[in-house]
Amino acid sequence: MANALQLENDDNQISDNEFHAISRLVYKNFGIVLGEEKRSLVVGRLHGCLSKRKISSFSQYLNLIKSDMTGEILSELVNQISTNFTSFYREASHFEYLADKALPEVMKMLSSRRSNDLRIWCAACSSGEEAYTIQMTVMKKLGLQYGTMNAGLLATDISAKVLDLAKAATYTAEQVATVHPDLKKSYFKVLPDGRHEVKPNVRDQILFRRFNLMNETFPFKTPFQIIFCRNVMIYFDEETRKKLIGKFYELLEPGGYLFIGHSETVPLDCTRFKAILPAVYRKPF
Ligand SMILES: C[S@@+](CC[C@H](N)C(=O)[O-])C[C@H]1O[C@@H](n2cnc3c(N)ncnc32)[C@H](O)[C@@H]1O
Repeated sequence: MANALQLENDDNQISDNEFHAISRLVYKNFGIVLGEEKRSLVVGRLHGCLSKRKISSFSQYLNLIKSDMTGEILSELVNQISTNFTSFYREASHFEYLADKALPEVMKMLSSRRSNDLRIWCAACSSGEEAYTIQMTVMKKLGLQYGTMNAGLLATDISAKVLDLAKAATYTAEQVATVHPDLKKSYFKVLPDGRHEVKPNVRDQILFRRFNLMNETFPFKTPFQIIFCRNVMIYFDEETRKKLIGKFYELLEPGGYLFIGHSETVPLDCTRFKAILPAVYRKPF
């Protein structure tokens, strides 16, 4: 125990070379920038990965990653390093805008071309709260009309660990505290232990998949009308953000919406998006 605590708090347990090698690896594979200030976090969060394998140095850990053809150790690394904080109705004004403005506009666009295909992507969905919030907002707003649509929500994240939680769709009473009581009643089932499980009519509408936003190619055949990518670009550098925003632009239908985190910025000089509200952008027609 003393050793574990010592390792978690002692930056000296990782050499400069080891730390830089891990930073480079994480940046190259996941776009996440690990500056010098993240040194303690890296040591603390990766400690368990080293002890699980009974190895005592980060150099050995890096060698293991290189020789692991399955990619599992790298995947475990990103599970540990990434920050997964999320909540239902986080940055709630976005969901008001979605219901009151964006969705009605999108429905108009679809009906003008006699389409029923509503496609939404929640990129970097973490443990599911954001995706379920979007889905509840859409279902509540569209009511019975939802059933007549060919609607679908794709929710992706790099971390298999959070995706498992998202698919389990079970949250504590504290986690669902920000969900309006009427919505809780409509869309959750209370389990005997007090936890809340998202009902199948909501869950079944969401496809959770592992996807790395750093991938060169985004394999989506039909455009989206709405993309949420919130609170992940803060971990990327400007070049990575620009590239990603450009990809979102290509993937959105003209008139489609991009929601990013309130503390994130889109470098406006590099984008053809029109800024609509703080952290809401629209692709011009
Ligand atoms: C802070 S959470 C944000 C969750 C949610 N979007 C929200 O705003 O509440 C950031 C998420 O981004 C994911 N992430 C980090 N790097 C990623 C990448 N390269 N590709 C896809 N997801 C990534 C993490 O696993 C984490 O779940």
